[in-house]
Amino acid sequence: MALYSEKVMEHFLNPKNVGIIENADGVGEVGNARCGDIMKMYLKIEDDTIKDVKFETFGCASAIASSSMATEMIKGKPVSEAMTLTNKAVAEALDGLPAHKMHCSVLAEEAIKKALEDYDNKKENKK
Ligand code: FES
Repeated sequence: MALYSEKVMEHFLNPKNVGIIENADGVGEVGNARCGDIMKMYLKIEDDTIKDVKFETFGCASAIASSSMATEMIKGKPVSEAMTLTNKAVAEALDGLPAHKMHCSVLAEEAIKKALEDYDNKKENKK
């Protein structure tokens, strides 16, 4: 069996939502100390809905594919739903990741959660 599913290859070769959002409502950056990969997520949020999301990932094919898929999964969704996105759901949507590459999808979950936390903090500070 090939190491990567067709979906992983598709999202790695043609990733969706790559880039940055100026004046994002939430930004989250995470890294994995072991492999050194870094992922950054930018969120534009209006009426508690993810209006736009972009990412920059300096990492492996699985990390890029996971970022791309994760952004597609939360775009247009309520913040509460985005908060519950798990790395398992991202990996499943990619038709699976090799066991030693599951940590790459964890980065996507963590980056989104961190960006949502940043959004919450910014909201609090505005009060
Ligand atoms: Fe580190 Fe994939 S090998 S994120």
